[in-house]
Amino acid sequence: MRCVVVLLAVMSLAGSAVLAQPKPASLYERVGRYDTIAVIADEYLKGLRADPKFARFAGRGADSLKRGRQLLKDQLCAMAGGPCSYVGRDMKTVHGGLGINAQEWHANMDYMAAALDKASIKGAEKAEFLKMVDTLKPEIAEK
Ligand code: HEM
Repeated sequence: MRCVVVLLAVMSLAGSAVLAQPKPASLYERVGRYDTIAVIADEYLKGLRADPKFARFAGRGADSLKRGRQLLKDQLCAMAGGPCSYVGRDMKTVHGGLGINAQEWHANMDYMAAALDKASIKGAEKAEFLKMVDTLKPEIAEK
C-alpha cells in the first residue's frame, strides 16, 4: 500500500513537471515583436513599390496605400503568433483578379527575404518567416 502511495506521488510530480514546461516562444517573440514586424513590412513594401515589374499594382491613393500597409503589419503579426488581429479581407478576395503570376510571386518572396535581412532576421527565424508567408501563395498567386 505504502509503495502505491509513493508511486502515485512520484507520478503526480512527474506530471506537473511536464505541465510546467514553458511554452516555446512564438515566431513573433523571436523576431523581436511588433517593432521588427513593422520594419519587415515597410522594407518589403519599399522593395515591391520601387520595382517597375510591380507598377501595374500601384494605382491607389495615399490613404489606401497607408491602410494596406497597416493591414499587412497586423496580418504578419497575427500569423507569427503575436497579439494582433487582422481585420482585413481574406487573401483570395483581395488578390483575386489581379493576375499575380508565379514569377511575380517569386520576386515578392525575394523582397520579403531582403526585408528580413534588413531587419537582421537570420537562420531558423528567417526560414520560418518565409515559409509562413509562402503558405499564402495558393490564395494570392494565380495557378
Ligand atoms: C506578388 C505579390 C503581391 C502583390 C502584387 C499584391 C498586391 C496587392 C494589391 C494591389 C492590393 C490592393 C487590393 C485592393 O485594395 O483592391 C493588396 C492588398 C493587400 N495585400 Fe497584397 N499583394 C501581394 C502579396 C501579398 C502578401 C505576400 C501579403 C501578406 C503577407 C499581402 C497582403 C495584403 C493585404 C493585407 C492587403 C490589404 C487587404 C485589405 O484591403 O483588406 N499581399 N495586395
